[in-house]
Amino acid sequence: MTSPRLNPNLLSLPLYVAGKSVDEVKEELGLEQIIKLASNESPIGPSPRAVEAARAFLSHAHRYPGSLDRTLRRALARRLHPDLHEDQFVIGNGGTDILRLITQAFVFDGGNVVMGQATFPMYKIFTTMFNGEPRITPPCPDYRLDLEAMLAAIDEDTRLVFLCSPNNPTGHTISQQQAEYFMAHVPPQVVVVFDESYYEYVDDPDYAASLDFLLAGRNLLIVRSFSKVGGLANLRVGYLVGPPELARYIARAKLPFHTGDVSLAAALASLDDAEFIARQTQAVQEGRRYLREALTGLGLHCLPSQANFVTFVDPPQPAEALTAALLRRGFIVRAMAGFGMPNAVRVSVGSPAENTAFVAALAAVLAAPPCLRNCT
Ligand SMILES: Cc1ncc(COP(=O)(O)O)c(C=O)c1O
Repeated sequence: MTSPRLNPNLLSLPLYVAGKSVDEVKEELGLEQIIKLASNESPIGPSPRAVEAARAFLSHAHRYPGSLDRTLRRALARRLHPDLHEDQFVIGNGGTDILRLITQAFVFDGGNVVMGQATFPMYKIFTTMFNGEPRITPPCPDYRLDLEAMLAAIDEDTRLVFLCSPNNPTGHTISQQQAEYFMAHVPPQVVVVFDESYYEYVDDPDYAASLDFLLAGRNLLIVRSFSKVGGLANLRVGYLVGPPELARYIARAKLPFHTGDVSLAAALASLDDAEFIARQTQAVQEGRRYLREALTGLGLHCLPSQANFVTFVDPPQPAEALTAALLRRGFIVRAMAGFGMPNAVRVSVGSPAENTAFVAALAAVLAAPPCLRNCT
């Protein structure tokens, strides 16, 4: 049989396989309990108001989605700034889908995209998927995005620059001063994407006000997610806000009935649930402070995170061996090689009980003599 012609760029990408379920891991390892601190999910679950709103829409599941996409865009515009309009927003199936729509919109007939090495891997995956050239810049010695190197990597065929702040997996943010410098030097035709999926967790007063650049008329897109502070990772809702002409252009890459009403209703309800958002933010900020102090106390070098995870670098055992030993004790955390950090481990903030149990398990793994490490 003659084979069809395949896209070599698509073939070069990893096949995404969802990790094993917690129940599968439990059975495989014969463990009573598994604690997953691997995907930067909400430690307190979804907003009860979001659950109620989603449930109400389930009885309309036979109908295609209606006007809730517009209602959510309006609500976001009202929430974010009086000068914003609903046409400046695009809603997608999670921030990941939004990143895909953006890349599809600007990467065509080649083109390159500038991104950091130690950052969210989907930027590189989508650029490759749409036949663009990923231009990857190594981080600064402290693992921050090297903005100077990123500026230097831009040329006349650069379509996009991805700035992740707080950055996954380092947790670093871009300061106002850095953003001003970057925006003053980036060529105006290059679209700068601020991926702010974790922005609600930031407490650094110097966090860049990316919206101001947008309001000043720059070619800038801000990407945000309902998966993190909104606690809706499974319902897949994210959005971008940008200049109206760019938002309308990117929206052409959407499917008809792109996001379902169950998800949109939940997102709207969680947006309005100020008490829940405040509770989630507080839980994460306290949890990351606790984890950072406890892990530093174990002699680990933690990066200063502004997100809902803490990453430590160059542990005394290789990152992969450490995560394997932790898994045998029932804790799923991630080694960050796939995120451009060959010897780092990222731990998502869990509930206080999960965080304490994790620290105890990590202490035991680190204390085990090398000859016993394979069975700790
Ligand atoms: C930096 C960053 N951007 C975007 C996303 C997308 O999240 P989602 O597709 O769940 O909205 C994530 C998820 O972990 C992320 O870490």
